[in-house]
Amino acid sequence: MSTAIIYSFTSNKTAKAGEKIAAAIGKSFETTMVNADELTEKEFLSYDQLILGVPTWFDGELPHYWDEFVPAIEEMDLKGKKVAIYGLADQVGYPENFADGVGILARLMRDRGAEIVGQTNIENYKFESSNAIENGDDKFIGLVLDQENQARLSQKRIEDWVEGLKNIFK
Ligand SMILES: Cc1cc2nc3c(=O)[nH]c(=O)nc-3n(C[C@H](O)[C@H](O)[C@H](O)COP(=O)(O)O)c2cc1C
Repeated sequence: MSTAIIYSFTSNKTAKAGEKIAAAIGKSFETTMVNADELTEKEFLSYDQLILGVPTWFDGELPHYWDEFVPAIEEMDLKGKKVAIYGLADQVGYPENFADGVGILARLMRDRGAEIVGQTNIENYKFESSNAIENGDDKFIGLVLDQENQARLSQKRIEDWVEGLKNIFK
C-alpha cells in the first residue's frame, strides 16, 4: 500500500501539522509528502491511502489550491481508496464555519467512492456550527486542529489520531 500526505507546502500551519503527522507515523507505514500546490491528477490517483491537509479559508471555503483541484476530483473514481483528512481552523474567529473545509473535502471524496477514515471526538472544542460534522453525528469527519486558540492540545490530538490510523492504514 502506498500512502501520501498531501498539503500545501506554503500553507504555514497546515504544513507544520503535516510534518508532525509524518513524525508521529514514523516507520509504522511508509508515507510520501506531496505538495498540494503542484498536485496532478495522476499523482493523486497513484496512492491507495491519502492523508489530506486542509485549512478553512474565506469563511467556510476551501483554500484556492484545493478549490482548483475540485473539478479533477469530481471526475475521479476513488473506490478502494482510504482517505483521512486533517484541517486547520479557528473556532473563536469563525465559530459558524468551524473547519468547514474538512467537511467539504471529505464529502467530495466520499461522493467519488472513497472511504473516509479517522473520525474524531468534538469534545473540548467550542463553536456554533461546522460542516466537518456529519448530520446527527457527534464526531468530526477528520482531525481538527486550532493553532490560534488551542495550540497546546494539537500534539496530543495528532498522536491520538495517528494511533487510530495505524490500525486502518497499512
Ligand atoms: C481570511 C481567513 C478566513 C478564514 N476562515 C475560516 C473559517 O471560515 N473557518 C475556520 O474554522 N477558520 C478560518 N480561518 C482560520 C484558518 O483556517 C486558520 O488560521 C488556519 O490555521 C490557517 O492555516 P494555514 O496557515 O495553513 O493557512 C480563516 C483565516 C483567514 C485568514
